[in-house]
Amino acid sequence: MFDAVQFASESVEQLKSTIDDIAIIACSGGVDSSVAAILAKRAAGDLLHCVYVDTGLMRKNETEFIEKMFAEQGIDLITVHAADRYFKALEGVTEPEQKRKIIGETFIRIFEDEQAKCGAKYLIQGTIAPDWIESGGGVRDTIKSHHNVGGLPEDMTLEIVEPLRDLYKDEVRILARELDIIVAERQPFPGPGLALRTLGDLTRERVAVVREACAIVEEEFEAAAEAGVMELPWQYFAALLPVRSVGVHGDVRAYGETIVVRAVASMDGMSARFSEIPFKVLEKISTRITNTVKGAVNRVVYDITHKPPGTIEWE
Ligand code: XMP
Repeated sequence: MFDAVQFASESVEQLKSTIDDIAIIACSGGVDSSVAAILAKRAAGDLLHCVYVDTGLMRKNETEFIEKMFAEQGIDLITVHAADRYFKALEGVTEPEQKRKIIGETFIRIFEDEQAKCGAKYLIQGTIAPDWIESGGGVRDTIKSHHNVGGLPEDMTLEIVEPLRDLYKDEVRILARELDIIVAERQPFPGPGLALRTLGDLTRERVAVVREACAIVEEEFEAAAEAGVMELPWQYFAALLPVRSVGVHGDVRAYGETIVVRAVASMDGMSARFSEIPFKVLEKISTRITNTVKGAVNRVVYDITHKPPGTIEWE
């Protein structure tokens, strides 16, 4: 049985003995990095610089949400606006592993810029066990290079510290509740963000479509769960597929894009079962997505694949 109190105090002690100089931590607003930030803050105090990178690949209203959350925790957050840099680096890139490597590398370069500004020696990350296991850190083949693992450049000078690397997601959530973090129950969101949910051309316009579709899926599922119509899945989102199909808008032929809705039950993301969602909820999502992003999307499908053989994200 995981003992969160003991883990937190041991981890703070260990961080205290490791962090002897300025450290920066990558805060994404997810439960993993938020837990890592709070433990690191307790251990390193003013030596810690919390940095949030707005990659342009984040969820709707995410930057405002994160800034507010950290302010409430009494932690100063440095926001780096890097959307231009990411879209430029990702222009024309469609291969998933290449995307992840570019995102990981850009991320590290941004942190090196921050390092140059504040003279940091360490980079703290909220990496958890499935991140490095799936990136080939164990005996398994590489399934996906998780961006905070496989994308690290070889010439990096920051020393990486990963206080949560032996934990699984359910344990991180127990720890988050113990630390009283408001994002404890938040669904996971991948580091490379909406890039993994935009299959095909990675343009600002297409990412904006996925962002809106993800927001609609979240709103409708959360409203249905609140109304007792369904249970909230472990993870739920939309992805934009590189598939066009023929449809009609009014009485005019349309050749639009396809959104897939994905919702799964899981313990730790290592395996998952697709969630059975009431058709009424899916219907509302489909109507809202095709109405809201008019002209762009004319077809919405639901993914009924477990993991394995699928993975949770599409890339
Ligand atoms: P997959 O798609 O591999 O996802 O079944 C398992 C869980 O991990 C999340 N995920 C990531 N998280 N960096 C992250 O921080 C990544 O590169 C990454 N890729 C997938 C995914 O959202 C799911 O919760």
